[in-house]
Amino acid sequence: MIDHHIGIKLKTAGIAILIIACCSFFTSNKNSERYRYVAQNTTQLISVFDRSISLADSISVPGKLKQLKSNYFITRNYYKHIEFFIEYIAPFDVKYFINGPLVKKSDLEIGSRIVDPHGFQVLEEQLFGTDTIDQKIVAAELRLLKQSFEAFQNKLQDINVNDAQLLEAMQFELMRMSSLTLSGYDATYTQTNITECVSVFSGLRAVLNQIKTNYALNKYPTDIHLQLINGIKSAEKYCALHKTYDSFDRLYFITRHIKPIYKCLVCLHRSELFPFTPVNYAINLNNEHLFERESYNLNYFSVKAVDTLGNALQAKLGELLFFDPVLSGNNQRACASCHKPDMAFSDGLQKGLAFETKNSLDRNTPSLLNTIFQKHFFYDGRARQLEQQANDVLHNQKEMNSSVDDMISRLNLSTEYQLLFKTAYKGTTDTIISYYGILKAISEYEKTLVSMNSRFDKYIKGHYQQLSAQEINGYNLFSGKALCGSCHFFPLFNGLVPPAYSDTEYEVIGVPENTTNKNVDKDEGRIFVSKAYIHQYAFKTPTVRNSSLTAPYMHNGIYKTLDEVIEFYNKGGGQGLGINIPHQTLPFDSLQLSKKEMLDIKAFLLALTDTVGLMHKPNKLPLFQDSKLNQRIVGGVY
Ligand code: HEC
Ligand code: HEC
Repeated sequence: MIDHHIGIKLKTAGIAILIIACCSFFTSNKNSERYRYVAQNTTQLISVFDRSISLADSISVPGKLKQLKSNYFITRNYYKHIEFFIEYIAPFDVKYFINGPLVKKSDLEIGSRIVDPHGFQVLEEQLFGTDTIDQKIVAAELRLLKQSFEAFQNKLQDINVNDAQLLEAMQFELMRMSSLTLSGYDATYTQTNITECVSVFSGLRAVLNQIKTNYALNKYPTDIHLQLINGIKSAEKYCALHKTYDSFDRLYFITRHIKPIYKCLVCLHRSELFPFTPVNYAINLNNEHLFERESYNLNYFSVKAVDTLGNALQAKLGELLFFDPVLSGNNQRACASCHKPDMAFSDGLQKGLAFETKNSLDRNTPSLLNTIFQKHFFYDGRARQLEQQANDVLHNQKEMNSSVDDMISRLNLSTEYQLLFKTAYKGTTDTIISYYGILKAISEYEKTLVSMNSRFDKYIKGHYQQLSAQEINGYNLFSGKALCGSCHFFPLFNGLVPPAYSDTEYEVIGVPENTTNKNVDKDEGRIFVSKAYIHQYAFKTPTVRNSSLTAPYMHNGIYKTLDEVIEFYNKGGGQGLGINIPHQTLPFDSLQLSKKEMLDIKAFLLALTDTVGLMHKPNKLPLFQDSKLNQRIVGGVY
């Protein structure tokens, strides 16, 4: 994804955003020819929006609304044909003005502004999700969409994307389809997601066929191309036969159709005609194993992406430090005191036990499995790097209650530790025990805690006997009727938004103070950090992987079982329970799940458990000269 903006200049609802397009590293080419297909669809879009705008003024006239609705589907169809291209060129514009979700947004990338939702989804809500259509909103959104596509059309001649990048954009689109489109991230009211996939596919086919014409036949991998086109056609056929959103078997479709198409696309991309761009993406594009551990580029999530010297040794050292109470103020607490390997690195308590043991911490201890796959850390996202996160904890009086000088001077009492640092940081400037060295080692260790080998993952890999019919149905509910997958994104199931994986989402779901009263929990969450009023009571969406091991749940640990969590969602979150939370981002209507459906969802969640190779603890800790210190207990006393 290219984080460039197409330069849309928009004045809406009091905001004016001007973004300069910059496409420096692209090679030049004959754009008008290359983007003919995209340009044609854009022209069509603009003309249908034009016709719709004139209809919007007379919605009350019989027949006009019907026409407007039918135009809506026509524009969605054109848009989906070229979604892969627009999303690649202008993800920002899509998120804020064209096809963003129906919630107000505030993000550092737009300063302290709060941006109202705009684009297709607002239009959809007006036309299909309410009995009282607001004519003004409909007209304004149609105009805005028309303007957005006009700006895009104008920019097309300046954009330079080569064929290899078009293939990249297609790879991202297949991921987007699997994780967002099939999980109801858009088309929430019309639920036309499956038919929209057909539009996406036919767009990909058209552009692939056009790419082919740019090369001499004897130089082009025609057999791969043919296989790819046939794969896409057969996926289109499958969608056409299984259009119903609720009963669509997503896992079948992802594994039997999307994955083989993706593999073929990577194969084509690997031909010498289409060199991979040297961009550090979260997804390793030159890997055909979609949605598997190998497809993620761990370096993308690292602070020091280029600092790869001795990382394995640093991680080993980090493991020792993680389990060693010598880092705490009283030699009795370690990171592992609260993050216990046999509980997926959580602690089973409602809230963590404070240093002085009489009190609790303010929040529930989260799992550290897959923690690396996040943009921010802590429930409110106050730490932007794992190193910063560890720094917070080590100093926190309620947690480790230590100081930098103490830690360094204590570690220096051990020649074994001195040697471990020296070896792990050999060739760098940190061969003596430094604070940076401590933080870096711990975070290198945390990066090894990747859990992506559950039965669910095995199914995705092609071992179809690993999931029962109930679990498969559970996933389809999770991603369909129950809406879970629109926040806990497939396949990491946290709030890191695919396919760029560059943004972690915060949501207001209205978790109450306790299970009996009707007050929202007093912890105001993300607003502490962002200061944006829409983030009052917003929390970072955690992963639900390994949730069978991480009870109790939520930032305040009020739910003891997954059944209680699912029940909470079924009622519509805090609002649904009767709590007044103005900015709840979770839909507050009841999900109307039956008992069996709730059990199916739970069964799916249980299939996400994987701790193989992740429960390892050091047998012993490094030696000190001081015999008292040598009585330290691996993982701490409490
Ligand atoms: C006393 C218990 C306790 C100890 C000791 C502790 N943690 Fe935590 N940890 C927590 C709690 C509670 C949170 C959530 C706090 C919040 O969100 O405000 C947390 C959050 C985290 C997170 C963020 C996870 C996420 O998904 O955002 C990481 C990473 C982490 N801890 C690592 C560590 C490391 C490394 C150490 C040792 C240096 C450590 N913790 C020591 C209780 C503890
Ligand atoms: C609007 C976004 C959203 C939707 C939809 C959503 N969740 Fe969540 N989920 C969150 C957020 C945010 C949290 C953390 C809330 C907190 O700690 O207060 C969370 C927490 C959880 C947890 C607790 C994880 C832990 O370790 O404590 C589970 C389990 C969970 N969700 C499952 C589900 C299921 C099942 C569904 C569908 C029925 C669902 N979620 C739908 C955003 C969402």
